[in-house]
Amino acid sequence: MQKLQLTTEYTLYDTISELDNQAQELLKIAINAREQAYAPYSNFSVGAAILLDNDEIVIGNNQENAAYPSGMCAERVAVYSAGSKFPKTTILKLAISASSSHKEITQPVAPCGSCRQAISEYEVNQKTPIEIYFMGASGKIIKVDSLKSLLPLSFDKSFL
Ligand code: THU
Repeated sequence: MQKLQLTTEYTLYDTISELDNQAQELLKIAINAREQAYAPYSNFSVGAAILLDNDEIVIGNNQENAAYPSGMCAERVAVYSAGSKFPKTTILKLAISASSSHKEITQPVAPCGSCRQAISEYEVNQKTPIEIYFMGASGKIIKVDSLKSLLPLSFDKSFL
């Protein structure tokens, strides 16, 4: 028997202005996308922006539904949109911002487990890491260099 340990790594930024220009721009686009979210039930709005290697930017925001489970998270709306519009293209960066009408979200909001799995599919296929930046409505920003930092021991097509 062996007890093993996994470690993960991320970068913490105090403000958007600490990011390079490209990441700042992408995060601002995610914030704009967040403002267009359709979240009448949770009042929790999430925006995502993806930078592709063909310089295209694809956005997504959460789309809720009166039949709650039929709704979709911002990150998956964005990656599925990118996958449908630019199927052969590599995802370089993903930026995410979340806000709530109930309270000020000052902590970075990480993508949920289902979104991590969905993003992983694209990272595995493209064989290059996706940089992910995430924040709340204000406050610090977290960057991971790869989805793998958020989803160790992941399930992928190699098991099938
Ligand atoms: N949500 C996202 O858009 N992304 C996440 O990673 C977590 C949750 C959305 C789903 C739902 O519309 C609302 O936030 C509250 O869970």
